[in-house]
Amino acid sequence: MTRSVLVTGGNRGIGREIARTFAAAGHRVAITYRSEQPADDFLAVRADVTVPDDVAELFQRVEAEQGPVEVLVSNAGITRDNVLPRLSDADFDDVVNTNLTGAFRVVRRASRRMLAAKWGRIIFVSSMIGFLGAPGQSNYGASKSGLLGLTRSLAWEFGGRGITANLVAPGLIDTDMSARLPEARREDLLRMTAMRRTGSPAEVAAVVAFLASDAASYVTGATVPVSGGFAMGY
Ligand SMILES: NC(=O)c1ccc[n+]([C@@H]2O[C@H](COP(=O)([O-])OP(=O)(O)OC[C@H]3O[C@@H](n4cnc5c(N)ncnc54)[C@H](OP(=O)(O)O)[C@@H]3O)[C@@H](O)[C@H]2O)c1
Repeated sequence: MTRSVLVTGGNRGIGREIARTFAAAGHRVAITYRSEQPADDFLAVRADVTVPDDVAELFQRVEAEQGPVEVLVSNAGITRDNVLPRLSDADFDDVVNTNLTGAFRVVRRASRRMLAAKWGRIIFVSSMIGFLGAPGQSNYGASKSGLLGLTRSLAWEFGGRGITANLVAPGLIDTDMSARLPEARREDLLRMTAMRRTGSPAEVAAVVAFLASDAASYVTGATVPVSGGFAMGY
């Protein structure tokens, strides 16, 4: 069955690959972008998840052009790393507002039509850092572990309504975001990764596609690491 899929932050990195994977499987795919519209043939809507009016317009367009969102992938995310004494209010707020409150804004809107249809798949893109923490990433870590509480609460709220909510927790994946890491930090992370290599966006996208599929109908409230065995057992 083909579905109406929305991927936030689908113009580059992990989100773009997730969008491509759904499109390749024949689904109708919409993405958001802020900076640059991608060349791909998706329904691309300029929207910032921190702006409520953008989110409202985004859903109106997606619903009008490809139908109510049945699969929501909340992927948009940012980092603003700094050690705590130097972390500004703005850098804390921006990260939480994008990574956590932004996810809340889109899922709240998407859930209306999912509840009416009694079917839906919600997938949040978290990070292993949300569970392990990291120096200089207290804002990012807080936002990403906040998604765990959101996921599990929604799993309870929607458990009897045909809607699942799950979290993927990537390790170190090759994108613009990870390219900004200092080399020493990158080496540290790879030492903590059983497979001793970075992952590709496609390896994350494959797990997201599984969670959205009928094969995952009894999976909800779960956290799936896609991390090459990063920090197992911590
Ligand atoms: N790469 C990794 O190693 C890694 C590891 C763990 C988790 N993750 C998570 O995976 C997700 C994707 O990361 P990535 O590595 O693909 O990063 P990326 O290449 O930097 O892409 C980030 C995406 O988020 C979008 N975005 C940022 N702020 C937004 C906002 N306010 N409203 C709408 N879209 C916004 C960006 O849009 P613009 O291009 O328009 O700015 C872009 O599409 C993030 O949630 C990230 O935290 C990444």
